[in-house]
Amino acid sequence: MAWADAFRDQSVLVTGASSGIGRATAVAFAAAGARVALVARRRPQLDEVAAEVAAAGGRALVVPTDVTDRGAVADCFATVVRAHGGVDVVVNGAGVLVPGPVATLRDDDLDAMLRVNLFGALFVMQEAMAHMRPRGAGVIVNVASLAGRRGVSPLGGYCATKFALIGLTEALRSELHGGPVHVGLVLPGVIDTPMVDAAMQDPDFLALWPPALSMAPSWVVWAIFATVRFRLVEVSVPPGAATLEKLGALAPGLADTVVEWARTTLQWMAGRSRGA
Ligand SMILES: NC(=O)c1ccc[n+]([C@@H]2O[C@H](COP(=O)([O-])OP(=O)(O)OC[C@H]3O[C@@H](n4cnc5c(N)ncnc54)[C@H](OP(=O)(O)O)[C@@H]3O)[C@@H](O)[C@H]2O)c1
Repeated sequence: MAWADAFRDQSVLVTGASSGIGRATAVAFAAAGARVALVARRRPQLDEVAAEVAAAGGRALVVPTDVTDRGAVADCFATVVRAHGGVDVVVNGAGVLVPGPVATLRDDDLDAMLRVNLFGALFVMQEAMAHMRPRGAGVIVNVASLAGRRGVSPLGGYCATKFALIGLTEALRSELHGGPVHVGLVLPGVIDTPMVDAAMQDPDFLALWPPALSMAPSWVVWAIFATVRFRLVEVSVPPGAATLEKLGALAPGLADTVVEWARTTLQWMAGRSRGA
């Protein structure tokens, strides 16, 4: 396997490790030799991931944490540093999605997404930097989204939180420029995870997205590995997918036309895949 032993004895902390992309990432880092800290709220799911890691001969530490609680995030880092002697890599994967049109977006739903996708990621980044800067080394990977580069319906509120996370990350990158700590962005398209399964309950999302087009979490794992290993600044999944954003900066109206064409095509494909 290409990445076998690539992260031997590194201490890797993954948030969102109880499910989907975070789970796949944690298991893959462990398989590549890392000691992984599994961070999310649900202990039973984390225990299951830890058992999977152990069964494959890897090492995992379960640290149940709500990332929206700044104090809990500080305690989490303290626990991992005590157990692993430090933190070399942080993957900010925890996230939530509540789909729906902007016209009826509820403040509670936007608030819930902001608390995890923006504030939670910020608390983790700040704790990571406070630890990594004095050590003179470290990599932080923020899992944002292609929906954080281009607003799409019915994901308006979610897009807003991911745009915010990207802005925060770009600003941090400039603060860290030339220093030993690196922050990278991974921007996935639609990935086959429980988050997307749940989004399929929303009629607008269901009408838009053909499930056969969803990518496997391993695509995102590869992007995260490459970001850490080669200190990449930004990786889209699939690679190159954020090109529309460049077009949008030059010609917003033309980009809107392309998006509408893509929406219509996807709706047609989604209908076909449901047999409609
Ligand atoms: N799937 C996609 O198509 C897609 C596309 C682009 C970007 N992303 C991003 O990729 C990341 C992972 O998404 P996914 O698809 O793997 O979703 P998922 O399967 O629903 O997993 C989300 C993870 O976030 C954790 N989480 C949620 N709230 C939390 C909190 N307050 N504190 C700690 N952990 C929390 C969940 O754990 P607990 O519930 O146990 O706390 C879970 O482990 C997210 O940031 C998402 O926005 C996903």
